[in-house]
Amino acid sequence: MSDQGKTMKNASAEPFSEEICDAVLALNREREARRGHSPRCFVLTFGCQQNVADSEKLLGMAMRMGYARAETPDKADLILVNTCAVREHAEDRALSIVGQYKHLKEKNPDLLIGVCGCMAAQQHRREQLKKSYPYVDFVMGTSVLHRLPELLLAALSTRKRTFCSDEENVIAEGVPIVRDSAYRAFVSIMYGCNNFCTYCIVPYVRGRERSRAPDEIEREVRQLVADGCKDITLLGQNVNSYGKGLSEKVDFADLLARLDKIEGDFRLRFMTSHPKDATRRLVDVMAGGRHIAHAFHLPLQSGSDAVLERMNRRYTTAKYLEILDYMREKMPDIAVTSDIIVGFPGESEADFEATLKMLSRARFDMIFSFIYSPRRGTPAAEMPDQIPREAQSARMGKLLSLQEEIAKEINLPLVGTVRRVLCDGASKTDAGMLSGRDEQNKLVFFADDGTSAGEWVNIKIDRAAPFALYGEKVR
Ligand code: 5AD
Ligand code: SF4
Repeated sequence: MSDQGKTMKNASAEPFSEEICDAVLALNREREARRGHSPRCFVLTFGCQQNVADSEKLLGMAMRMGYARAETPDKADLILVNTCAVREHAEDRALSIVGQYKHLKEKNPDLLIGVCGCMAAQQHRREQLKKSYPYVDFVMGTSVLHRLPELLLAALSTRKRTFCSDEENVIAEGVPIVRDSAYRAFVSIMYGCNNFCTYCIVPYVRGRERSRAPDEIEREVRQLVADGCKDITLLGQNVNSYGKGLSEKVDFADLLARLDKIEGDFRLRFMTSHPKDATRRLVDVMAGGRHIAHAFHLPLQSGSDAVLERMNRRYTTAKYLEILDYMREKMPDIAVTSDIIVGFPGESEADFEATLKMLSRARFDMIFSFIYSPRRGTPAAEMPDQIPREAQSARMGKLLSLQEEIAKEINLPLVGTVRRVLCDGASKTDAGMLSGRDEQNKLVFFADDGTSAGEWVNIKIDRAAPFALYGEKVR
């Protein structure tokens, strides 16, 4: 695991190797000639949007090297499992799926299996994969993702297994990206995290904060808009500290203001923010913007100041409410969402009651709530007074039912309003219905009238539920 050093130097930009890509491409062309079809790659993604964005790079690199996309793992000659380590459950699921791939390798000895992402960035997991998963060909953490061509070349030419350790402070530009959607896109603006919240594994597996140059980001966003992309989310573990360590003096508010100047019909979003770094100036830029969606994800984690302190969050509930109130004052239509952890070590009934009270005061449009999961190597995993599972689950139940009431109350007054919705195509749950997202990122369902995914539609809301709005298309 990395040291807890907090210095931020200029990240060194490591070039992506086109030469090695060409060497793998040549090997794949030979295989294609022998077999009559190109080799195929399947990427399986766990975890957050950052991982989704990383997977789009993994697929982009694979396709650059002559792989076609496989829809299922059994059709693949290369399987890349992009893992998450934020909670134990995600790690267990990834390991269990990797285990299931053993039989695919028996059927197709040419198959290569790579494990990447946050789980793979932990030394003990690398050792476990080396020892107990002999059919895994290579393992690499998030900071060395751009070295996939190198690992593939080694695996294809020598069949030697590689366990690649992470590198500090590296940013690779020029990595090809194959995005899942033509109209919604994620753009990473920075990598890593320096905050060391005591429960969180991210600073250990994604390294220190490093920001991409604003010119590179602007170029990528401009290209996306020119290609017809309509909803762009800027990504980073803590976008509010964007720009530190860059030679150019620029912060996140500056970056947003700069991107907001781009002409086109598109929405800009960002995640995730840290309350200690969210500034009034950022809120002002949002309020005065043309493209910046009035939606803010601001993880609170706990409503108890004592717990926040033990989490090393470095803000109080009063400070949190200050910026929240300012946002609502400047943008009354803003939707604010949050993350809450229940059952953090030492969380008393009174601490939990404080979280419920804070929920009633803050009135989030939606929350993502998590039962605390001890992560090896983090300070909280060693804290006394770990909360038993039953108490954690009972608290989670109470939290969810209070949030459901709040969300229902917030959504009810939206009945009768017209929302501009970006259509995502057929609803996954309701036959005959389409779904999309409005500016506030609320899920909106409407009758299927042939609207295509990626089209804007105006929907008049006639019914509101806690987690979705329902309506009809209007001109
Ligand atoms: N246990 C439970 N939830 C966690 N999160 C991060 N680490 C843990 C953990 N060890 C949650 C936080 C964070 C979100 C992405 O995941 O709420 O904001
Ligand atoms: Fe984890 Fe805290 Fe960094 Fe978010 S800010 S990634 S919760 S350490």
